[in-house]
Amino acid sequence: MSDTTRDLPSPPLPLTTRRLTIREYTDEDWPAVYAYVKDDSFWKHQAGGPPIEERVKALIEWAAREQNFSPRVNYYLAVTETKSGDIVGEALMKVIPPGHGQGEIGFGIVPSQWRKGYATEVSRALIDAGFTTLNLHRISAQCAPENKVSIRVMQKLDMAREGLMREHYRAGGKYWSSVVYALLAREYEKIKTNTSR
Ligand SMILES: CC(C)(COP(=O)(O)OP(=O)(O)OC[C@H]1O[C@@H](n2cnc3c(N)ncnc32)[C@H](O)[C@@H]1OP(=O)(O)O)[C@@H](O)C(=O)NCCC(=O)NCCS
Repeated sequence: MSDTTRDLPSPPLPLTTRRLTIREYTDEDWPAVYAYVKDDSFWKHQAGGPPIEERVKALIEWAAREQNFSPRVNYYLAVTETKSGDIVGEALMKVIPPGHGQGEIGFGIVPSQWRKGYATEVSRALIDAGFTTLNLHRISAQCAPENKVSIRVMQKLDMAREGLMREHYRAGGKYWSSVVYALLAREYEKIKTNTSR
């Protein structure tokens, strides 16, 4: 198989949607991220739990370092409300494993901004960038089976449920399961054609 990793294109950042801007993090962003990840409700269905400030700083530094990799496979991005510039969430896109056309997306929204359709808007933009500019073949997303809202977002994106990975990782002293949803490039093409009619 040829190594398509070297030729991986990059999505044109920032990505913009009707209300949101999905952009690279800068060093100044960590306090805004810490402000929402310290909220217990953000971790209700996620492994881990509210991190200390140092871990958030380290995460933002990691995100900044990843910006310089070529080919780039990790995109951990800030989601801002375009009108105010405020950070309202985070977006993640990973190319895994490189060379096989596989991508994974993730999303999180600031609790005070839930139920405005932001997660759906963000993930639609990630999926579009993944298929149209990263030329991915399949994009997946996963979450804990109890995370009904995250599952609803994946369903709204027309991702198909592929299965349940039972207790496949350990965090915070317990084993976690994940449901996996995914969309293929040819399915996305069909969706795009049907919605543009
Ligand atoms: C999961 C999460 C990203 C959803 O963000 P959001 O911006 O509120 O989601 P949306 O507004 O796009 O809503 C998507 C759907 O879920 C529904 N929904 C949202 N919150 C809900 C709630 N608390 N109860 C029931 N349904 C809810 C919405 O109504 C919408 O469905 P609909 O269009 O059929 O009505 C957000 O809850 C979050 O950040 N949670 C913590 C982090 C997390 O779990 N991330 C995912 C890990 S993989």
